[in-house]
Amino acid sequence: PLEHAEAFAPSNIALCKYWGKRQDELNLPVNSSLSISLAHLGSRTVIRPSATGEDKVILNAKVLDLDAPFASKVIAFVDLFRRQQDLPVIVDTRNNIPTAAGLASSASGFAALTLALNQYFQLQLPDNVLSAFARMGSGSASRSIFSGFVEWQMGLHEDGMDSHAYPLDVVWPDFRVGLVKVSTSQKAVDSRSGMKRTVATASLYQSWPAQAAQDLEKLHQALAQGDFTLLGSTAEHNAMSMHATMIASWPPLLYWQPDSVAAMQKVWALREAGIEVYFTMDAGPNLKLLFQAKDQALLETEFAGLEVVAPFSGAAARV
Ligand code: DP6
Repeated sequence: PLEHAEAFAPSNIALCKYWGKRQDELNLPVNSSLSISLAHLGSRTVIRPSATGEDKVILNAKVLDLDAPFASKVIAFVDLFRRQQDLPVIVDTRNNIPTAAGLASSASGFAALTLALNQYFQLQLPDNVLSAFARMGSGSASRSIFSGFVEWQMGLHEDGMDSHAYPLDVVWPDFRVGLVKVSTSQKAVDSRSGMKRTVATASLYQSWPAQAAQDLEKLHQALAQGDFTLLGSTAEHNAMSMHATMIASWPPLLYWQPDSVAAMQKVWALREAGIEVYFTMDAGPNLKLLFQAKDQALLETEFAGLEVVAPFSGAAARV
């Protein structure tokens, strides 16, 4: 191994969501998904040899207890790469995602860890294999290996090696993502358990795979034609459909809070008034607005504290 390996991976926001696994251990999804990576917002991971002979996991400058769920997941992931060898490491990860943005960091975290491990052990694995490895850490991490618009193809093989992401050849400089942070008092059910519950108990979930496949088609069409209305409306409809399957689970999975609904209603009112803004939501109460550069100033005044990301430029408007 090297003395020092370092890698960065971006967060990503799905426009067609991954919800439901056909195989739990390998994070093999029921449906393909499509996302946009958030430029410079994400995780940076450094790996060094550990002189103490013990593994060490550091997150945002804090040393974690190795028995903590996150640290043990990281170490189990490192074991995939070092196999039987006795090579203790220090894994040091920093997220530059503003805490105010309310974004999950497991996607960028496992993608950065995968890229850093590939360097550290000098494996020179191709991108699709790196993406498949990242997927085993967290499904959505398969997409964070790449920048821009990314599709994760579900794959069909049992070993999952065809279940990986790839970048789409589309550049959209005016595309913006706005992070709306809603108050987060309650602890949400994590994605893994949420998916399990939905698949097991929501009869509405039966319609999800077909809806996702159709939405994926529409997103491809929107990207090919530069059709923002089709892109935004498809993404919002897809997110609402996913949340409908969550709500139809038992016990119900309602990730929304009153302020989430208020923000949705605000988006709908703005659309009524002719502003082209859409939203998507994941397994939490926060909204991610989708809009174009021309509407940024107005939306910043409408949504106090909006964090705007320009996925196709090095410099975000803020942060
Ligand atoms: C709602 O990738 O966090 O954000 O594979 O169990 O780690 P695991 O789940 P995760 O799920 C993300 C779910 C989602 C939709 C999406 O990002 O596609």
